Amino acid sequence: MLLRNVTDEDLPLFFEHQRDEVALRMAAFPSREREAFMTHWRTKVLRPENVTRAITVDGRAAGYISSWEQNGERLIAYWMGREHWGRGLATRALSEFLTVERTRPLHACVAAHNVGSIRVLEKCGFRAEPQQNPRHEDGVAELFMTLSP
Ligand SMILES: CC(C)(COP(=O)(O)OP(=O)(O)OC[C@H]1O[C@@H](n2cnc3c(N)ncnc32)[C@H](O)[C@@H]1OP(=O)(O)O)[C@@H](O)C(=O)NCCC(=O)NCCS
Repeated sequence: MLLRNVTDEDLPLFFEHQRDEVALRMAAFPSREREAFMTHWRTKVLRPENVTRAITVDGRAAGYISSWEQNGERLIAYWMGREHWGRGLATRALSEFLTVERTRPLHACVAAHNVGSIRVLEKCGFRAEPQQNPRHEDGVAELFMTLSP
């Protein structure tokens, strides 16, 4: 098993991951300052109605994967520390996560330039959908990807 429950001790590592400039450009995602990050995780991401797991490598946290409800749709997001990229871990973690998070359809919003993440999603069965509003508010083109029932 690659996934386990997230503990408060994991949060400083996830905080560092979401400050990595290379990852931020890839995900086209704004980072949060420490306090805002901790509050966001403790009050939103770790809500019991969400499914959130740490991705582990040799028993140590290497990233996370999470799902939540937004505007009546179930969405997922994931993030790996850069030192773990390119070894198939995100693909394995998402495959395992999909046995825990059984909601279908399941969706992911991904920057159109994030070829790694798009590939991870495609390998796990997600497909890009035509979207009504295909652009992020900051102008970054996005794909809305769906795993159908
Ligand atoms: C996207 C991310 C999760 C990928 O993690 P990973 O463990 O490196 O992914 P995998 O090793 O499972 O790669 C899966 C596929 O994507 C490809 N891939 C991964 N990163 C890539 C990149 N930067 N450019 C091109 N292809 C890439 C791999 O070659 C592999 O394809 P293949 O099986 O056909 O060879 C990781 O880079 C990350 O956390 N990025 C920052 C946060 C982010 O973008 N999150 C997703 C937001 S939607």
